Amino acid sequence: MRPHRFHLNVTEKCNIRCIHCYWEEYGKHRDPSLDTIDQILTKFKDLGKAYGEHGRHILTIGGGEPTVRKDLPEIIRLAVRRRFRVRLVTNAVKIDEPYAKSLRRAGLRIAQVSLDGACEATHDRVRGKGNWARTMRGIHALKKAGIFVILSYVVLPGVNLEEAPLLLDLVQQLKVAGAKFARPVREGQAILHQVEVRGDYWSIFKRIVDHAGQIHYKRLLMFFDPLAHLLPIEQPASQKGLWGLATDLCQCDNTELVEVNGSSGDVYYCRIRHKLGNLWQQDLTRLWQSHPVLVGLRSKTPGGACDGCDAWKGCRGGCPAVVHGNTGLTLLQDSDCHRVQEQAAPPVAFGRGPFSSTRPLGVGESLGLLGKRMRDMAYFVVLR
Ligand SMILES: C[S@@+](CC[C@H](N)C(=O)[O-])C[C@H]1O[C@@H](n2cnc3c(N)ncnc32)[C@H](O)[C@@H]1O
Ligand code: SF4
Ligand code: SF4
Repeated sequence: MRPHRFHLNVTEKCNIRCIHCYWEEYGKHRDPSLDTIDQILTKFKDLGKAYGEHGRHILTIGGGEPTVRKDLPEIIRLAVRRRFRVRLVTNAVKIDEPYAKSLRRAGLRIAQVSLDGACEATHDRVRGKGNWARTMRGIHALKKAGIFVILSYVVLPGVNLEEAPLLLDLVQQLKVAGAKFARPVREGQAILHQVEVRGDYWSIFKRIVDHAGQIHYKRLLMFFDPLAHLLPIEQPASQKGLWGLATDLCQCDNTELVEVNGSSGDVYYCRIRHKLGNLWQQDLTRLWQSHPVLVGLRSKTPGGACDGCDAWKGCRGGCPAVVHGNTGLTLLQDSDCHRVQEQAAPPVAFGRGPFSSTRPLGVGESLGLLGKRMRDMAYFVVLR
């Protein structure tokens, strides 16, 4: 079984204001102390152990903006000591060379840097004037310190959707490790700023893949989106020479992302902005095993176009975080899927079946995964 992944927001504060950000308020609660973070990491490990996972879990550190914390290197050092593979999610606005070096010395190997445009004007429209230049400086500093950089792009219809494929050219120009694309969830600032979240994502995903083929893209390509599981099925020609590279798709079919706001202790499933509980008031493991939203997601059975869809195993009906943002529900088909749009009925609610845990991998899949891991590792070494 794929282990759980953990995401810890170490601050609610942020140094910029993006139009699409899913946060409603910034800095409502105080930052968690190092001691509090240590307690949360222990709870993460306990949850892993309850599921029989003893290896090193992936921990992404985010916020708010984690670099606003002066003690971020200590937080990273602590997490590495507690046997997590740490990844930082950052806007990189504050990162200069000495700071990047201090992150590297603390044990950081991979940083995901948000870039919401393939050019300055678009990025600054989303993330504020002057931030393209600051983020570029941050990217160069991270690279110079020996940290892998993955550019993360939230595809916003009417803002940056059309130029999304050009991010791949930028990846090659900047010689960073890769690009990751995600759909926006309609929450927080995105609602406040009336950001358009409905768009033709399927076409743009296909164009991104086609563009990768055209420019002989040779770096990481990731879609943080279950709908992308349809790409290699419906676009077998494009997968040639592309999916053989270190690629990644949303993995919520066989791993679960536990997200915690360290300032409040509130617990979430990935980007579903429905608070599941609070780890200071409830036992995290028990909450994770029994919360009705999670039990529902684990046991859903296909309906409508999803029934018989070749991508069901990986996609499981689309992204519940996006669906929740659009409808307030989690057990409904994802209406951004072109197959769902083409079905006769409006999006249908999923049924309930016996599936009660993350999907166990078959032997073939496990071997495939091992092969992919080794390929990814080799890839990282070459890219360095
Ligand atoms: C909330 S930010 C926190 C880390 C850091 N401040 C940053 O911007 O990278 C984490 C990631 O979520 C993305 N994000 C923010 N609002 C979103 C939304 N409404 N839907 C999907 N992703 C969103 C950001 O673009 C960023 O890549
Ligand atoms: S997306 Fe990140 S950088 Fe932008 S406002 Fe939200 S927390 Fe800050
Ligand atoms: S039909 Fe359903 S399972 Fe298939 S890709 Fe669309 S949302 Fe996913």
